[in-house]
Amino acid sequence: MEFTRADFPKDFLFGAATSSYQIEGHAHGGAGPTHWDTFAATPGNVVRAEDGARACDHYHRWPEDLDLMAKANFDVYRFSTSWARVLPEGTGPVNDEGLDFYDRLVDGMLERGLKPAATLYHWELPVALADKGGWRNRDIANWFADFTEVVMARLGDRVWSAAPINEPWCVGWLSHFLGQHAPGLRDIRATAHAMHHVLLAHGRAIEVMRGLGMSNLGAVCNFEYAQPVDDSPAAHQAAATYDAYYNRFFLSGLFRGTYPDEVLTGFAPHLPSGWQDDFGTIQAPLDWVGLNYYTRKIIAPNDGPWPHHHEVPGSLPKTQMEWEVYPEGLHHFLTMAGEYTGDLPLFVTENGMANPDQPDQPDDARSAYLTAHLAEVIRAIDDGANVRGYFIWSLLDNYEWALGYEKRFGLIHVDFDSLKRTPKASYHAVKRALARD
Ligand code: NOJ
Repeated sequence: MEFTRADFPKDFLFGAATSSYQIEGHAHGGAGPTHWDTFAATPGNVVRAEDGARACDHYHRWPEDLDLMAKANFDVYRFSTSWARVLPEGTGPVNDEGLDFYDRLVDGMLERGLKPAATLYHWELPVALADKGGWRNRDIANWFADFTEVVMARLGDRVWSAAPINEPWCVGWLSHFLGQHAPGLRDIRATAHAMHHVLLAHGRAIEVMRGLGMSNLGAVCNFEYAQPVDDSPAAHQAAATYDAYYNRFFLSGLFRGTYPDEVLTGFAPHLPSGWQDDFGTIQAPLDWVGLNYYTRKIIAPNDGPWPHHHEVPGSLPKTQMEWEVYPEGLHHFLTMAGEYTGDLPLFVTENGMANPDQPDQPDDARSAYLTAHLAEVIRAIDDGANVRGYFIWSLLDNYEWALGYEKRFGLIHVDFDSLKRTPKASYHAVKRALARD
C-alpha cells in the first residue's frame, strides 16, 4: 500500500464498513423475518437462493471481528443496526436481546478505541412493514422515526456518528425499478414513492436524533460515474439522465429542496401528491455527507420508455463484480458533492473491490484498487474538497445480497463452512499503512 497517514490531513479518519444482514447471522438472537428473507426464498432472485441466516456469524464472533478491526489500526467502524432484530414486528415490542447486542457491540468498539459509526437501516425491512407496502407507504417515515428513537435512546450517547439510511438509491431504484433487490418490483410509481419516502424517513430520523441531543449526523449516498457511450448528443442526454436519478436525486432533495428536472420528466406523474411540501422535514440540517463509490457505467440511449437508456459493457479492467475500475470517478464525486453540500465535511463511507480470493493467495488487486482510489481522495483534497475520512468496504467477506457469498469484498477472508477468519495481504498492507507513530 503506497500511502501512510502522513499523506493525509491531520485528523483524517480511516475505517472499515459492514452491515448487519450481511454479516450477523439473522437467524440468531430473536430477530424477526425481513423482506430480504422472503426475497431470497423466491426462486430466481438470489444466486443459489442464499440468504443471511448464518452469514459470518458475527452475532457470536463480534469480539474477534472488533479485535481484527482494532489491530488493523482503523479509527472508525461503520456498522448498521437491523430493524427486525430490534423490533421483530417493525413496530411495537422490543427484542431486548437484539438491543443488548448492539449495546455490547458499541461498548466493544469504544473499549478497543474504535469510533462507532452507526447506520440505522442497511436494507433488511421487517416483513410486517413490507406487507404494509414498505417504502411505498408514507407511514414508513413514522415507523422509521419510532425505530430510530428506540435504537438511539439506547446507543445515541455513545455512537460517534449516525446516518439513517444506507444508499437510498438502492432502497428506491434498485429495489423498485430494476427489481434486483427486495421487494423486487419493476414499477415506476412504486419507485417514485419509495425514493421520496426514503428521504422523508431520513429527515424524520434526523429530527428524532437531534431531539435526543445527538450530533455528527449525516446521509450516506452511492454514486456511479455516468460515461456517455459516444459523443452524440443523445448519448450525453442519456448519461445526464442516469447521473440525475442516480447521483443527484438525493443530494438535490437534501440540499436544494427539489428534484432534478431530468428525473421529474419521468417521475412527476408518479411522485406522491404534495411531495413538494415535505422538504421542510427532508432538509433537516446535516453535519456531514458520506459517499459510497465503486465504479462507472457506460450509458447508451435507446427508444424504450423513460429513462430511454441502457448500460453497455466498458473496456476497463473489471473486478469480480464485473465493475470497471475507475478511480477518477471518486475525485469527480468528491468535488461535485461540494456543489450541493458547500463546505460540509465529506466521508468516503464505502470503497473497495470484490475479488475471488483464496486465503493463501495475496490479494494484490485489492491493495492496488485501494491505493489508486486513495490517490484520488488526496487529489480531491488538494483541489479543495473537504474530505475527512475514508472507509473500506469491507472488513470481512460477507453476503453480497443477490450475488450471495461468492463475491469477496473483505480485507479478511471468511471460510463460510468453518467461519474461520484469515486476514488477507491487503489487511496487512492497510495495517502497516495506518500504523500510528
Ligand atoms: C454497497 C452496499 O452498501 C453494500 O451493502 C454492498 O455490499 C457493497 N456496496 C458492495 O456491493
